[in-house]
Amino acid sequence: MDYAARIEQCLEKAVERATQGGCPPLLSKALHSAVFPGGARLRPQLTLAVAAASGAGDADAACVDGAAAAVELMHCASLVHDDLPCFDDADLRRGKATVHKLYGEEIAVLAGDGLIVQAFQAMADGCCDNPMRLPALTACLSSAVGPSGGIVAGQAWESEPRIKLQEYHCAKTGSLFVGAVSAGALAAGSDPQSWRPLGMKIGEAYQLADDLLDARGNREEAGKPVGQDQNHTRPSAVEVYGLKGTLKRLARIVEEAVQSIPDCEGSEGLKRLIRAQSERLVPADLATDMAAA
Ligand code: IPE
Ligand code: IPE
Ligand code: MG
Ligand code: MG
Repeated sequence: MDYAARIEQCLEKAVERATQGGCPPLLSKALHSAVFPGGARLRPQLTLAVAAASGAGDADAACVDGAAAAVELMHCASLVHDDLPCFDDADLRRGKATVHKLYGEEIAVLAGDGLIVQAFQAMADGCCDNPMRLPALTACLSSAVGPSGGIVAGQAWESEPRIKLQEYHCAKTGSLFVGAVSAGALAAGSDPQSWRPLGMKIGEAYQLADDLLDARGNREEAGKPVGQDQNHTRPSAVEVYGLKGTLKRLARIVEEAVQSIPDCEGSEGLKRLIRAQSERLVPADLATDMAAA
């Protein structure tokens, strides 16, 4: 089974588990809407790819699937909360109405909460045959999303009078990429340390590209509102480095990401994945326009 199909399958399983039994109908629809259809699903792809590169076999498959689902569920939760009126007040996500626009703010808050809880459940379910791996995976996911340098910290920086761009980006975006690659290694029963630089670099590249799209992309192609950083006076790479500066930095960081991949059996496949994903980060015509600007 290819990575894309495998990811959808484990997400279906996790959402079904979340919505069976006593889940109220509106919340159930909101949970579905937050997860399907997905976006790039890059984070769980990284989890699967790093697990494979770390030697994961059939005996590790459930653990790896649980970790991949958990990482994507956390990401979906962060998007639902990020779009709320009290954060970015966005009406469009992945080309369709945001969860709070469809089901109301209360349900959107609860759907985000529910996905966070379900992420830990998905990981626990996946670790039934490898329970010794669960504590480290739990710690890995908690630090990726938690208040000490994780997504929660990243979003909280927006309420501070002064924000350091790199610290902000690292927490709101980089942390979950570090979590995604580390979870892949841990789920395969191996040491995540050597994968952390890859997660950090991809996370930084991803947020630079997101800032470029926000500054110069369009709503239809992005499938979400643009111009948000300026509207909400958020610090952005474009504001700090300029358009060309951000593009240059992005190209350099993608190359550093590729170079950081440890020597292992699956390293060539991973390098291809990173390069292919980085090409779709900034649409070619936009990159040409910006380079000429
Ligand atoms: C959007 O992430 C939010 C950021 C952290 C930049 P993605 O661009 O990965 O969103 P989806 O999952 O593809 O929609
Ligand atoms: C989102 O950052 C990062 C999260 C933790 C959800 P942004 O607010 O910059 O991302 P988009 O542009 O809404 O996807
Ligand atoms: Mg935001
Ligand atoms: Mg946003």
